[in-house]
Amino acid sequence: MNELPFRHVAIVVFGASGDLAKKMTYPALFSLMANNMLPKDRTHFIGAARSKYKMEDFHKKISSGIKQSSDQQVLSKFLEKCPYISLSAYDDGPSYQRLDSEIAKLESQSTGSGKNLRVYYIALPPSVFGDVSENLRKYAWHKEGINRIIVEKPYGKDYQSAKVLSNKLASLFTEEEVFRIDHYLGKDSVKSVLPLRFGANPFLSSTWSREHVQYVTVNFKEAFGAEGRGGYFDEFGIIRDVMQNHLMQWIILAGMERPNSLSVKDIHQAKLKFINDCRPVRPSDVIIGQYTASSKDPNKKAYKDDETVKKDSKASTFATAVLYIDNDRWRDVPFVIRCGKALDETRAELTLHYKTPPDSLFPSESGRTGTTFTIRDHPEKSHVLTATTKKPGRGFTVLNAPLSIDFSNPKYTDSYVPTAYEVLIYDAVRGDHTWFVPREEAEEAWRVWDDAIKNSESRNPLKYEYGSEGPKEEKDLLKQLGVEFE
Ligand code: NDP
Ligand code: BG6
Repeated sequence: MNELPFRHVAIVVFGASGDLAKKMTYPALFSLMANNMLPKDRTHFIGAARSKYKMEDFHKKISSGIKQSSDQQVLSKFLEKCPYISLSAYDDGPSYQRLDSEIAKLESQSTGSGKNLRVYYIALPPSVFGDVSENLRKYAWHKEGINRIIVEKPYGKDYQSAKVLSNKLASLFTEEEVFRIDHYLGKDSVKSVLPLRFGANPFLSSTWSREHVQYVTVNFKEAFGAEGRGGYFDEFGIIRDVMQNHLMQWIILAGMERPNSLSVKDIHQAKLKFINDCRPVRPSDVIIGQYTASSKDPNKKAYKDDETVKKDSKASTFATAVLYIDNDRWRDVPFVIRCGKALDETRAELTLHYKTPPDSLFPSESGRTGTTFTIRDHPEKSHVLTATTKKPGRGFTVLNAPLSIDFSNPKYTDSYVPTAYEVLIYDAVRGDHTWFVPREEAEEAWRVWDDAIKNSESRNPLKYEYGSEGPKEEKDLLKQLGVEFE
């Protein structure tokens, strides 16, 4: 698959010493190389950060995150392509000059043809995005080659800071050069909403609106806490961590109107139109919580017991919020989004809950047919439609039976199924912006959440026990709305 028209490809991982680089970025780069998605003889993956490593130790560190490396030879070949450069500081010009000359050396040794490509992946805390961008532009931007910068989330902390970040990036780079990554847009589960709605499923597309849908839920639960990420969580909290970006992206694709085509422009336009129709979330429609220690398992400590967390932290590790969309398709349909760490299970799914037709001959006892359609990412990748049907036996007792497809069945998948990060890094290398977040969309998404986040930060989060279903008070909000999660 080496049709990439580049003389040399340099993918530079800033923050190569960090958590994301080890858990996600390097494993994705390894897999892209092992699956021949990048030209083996002309690609290097250069790590950059302030930490000092002997090359051997750096390689040990990144290898420990690569779970799919059963073949030692393939891993060794990959590591040969992974130099590491220690920077004195993220605002130190000479460090970037050193980086530039290291990359230039690798480029000069390449025998390929075409332009050189440099992709800078910024896996660093947002506080240093600015310094890194400025210095990259000044010292390490290839003058004749093609340069791209991948910016991680969170994209700012609110609407204002996102605008400041956008202006900074726009003063240094063209919009073509900037790739704002949200790894949920690399997930098949999230993208599958489009063929489900706009493919050839009239039973879904014709019922995908307020006429038939009573409410929509997004249920994101993790059975693990924010262990070791307290510094980040204290500052950002869970709404900024996953709700405002990952879960919002899922909702955008599930809620937007049909794009005119699958072109980048049309998809981005349809997404932005949907965000513009979103009513800012009301603070009173938000519940927040923070986990306390488990009463059953001494290893499951309270959020505040983590040594990286401030003792008086009010950071939220759980939130449920209600979003309304002011357009003809969705007016008055609540989109109820729940996300939480340290809960009873790991789950990520989006569900449409259908109304019971008033003339149904087979109402269930609860008054709702309970018919639902779920797109699931965790614990398994699946689609599940529950349909009301006759329970086998005498009489006309009805049940809600699942009609499902589980994508772990190899019958439904290719032999190579890339992770979300692989998909998106490869898209960035190819210069395809479709599944990245354009500037205006990144900013507008904050408009929907700003008031709710600011208000939530002035409150004391409700308590819930590690391993539980979340704060009990959530039930009152759900009851008021008549909403049930599956
Ligand atoms: P880390 O906290 O692990 O930081 C990455 C590296 O940045 C560190 O190894 C350190 O490198 C440097 N660094 C850390 N703190 C500072 C600081 N205050 N000032 C300057 N440099 C610092 O972050 P992650 O790897 O977890 O995340 C990186 C980015 O990716 C963030 O924007 C995060 O939001 C995003 N992200 C992370 C995910 C994850 O699962 N971890 C998931 C999705 C997005 P050194 O000291 O060697 O320079
Ligand atoms: C990251 C968040 O962006 O997404 C994490 O920072 C969260 O807190 C993760 O755990 C969830 O991603 P996934 O792909 O495991 O659902």
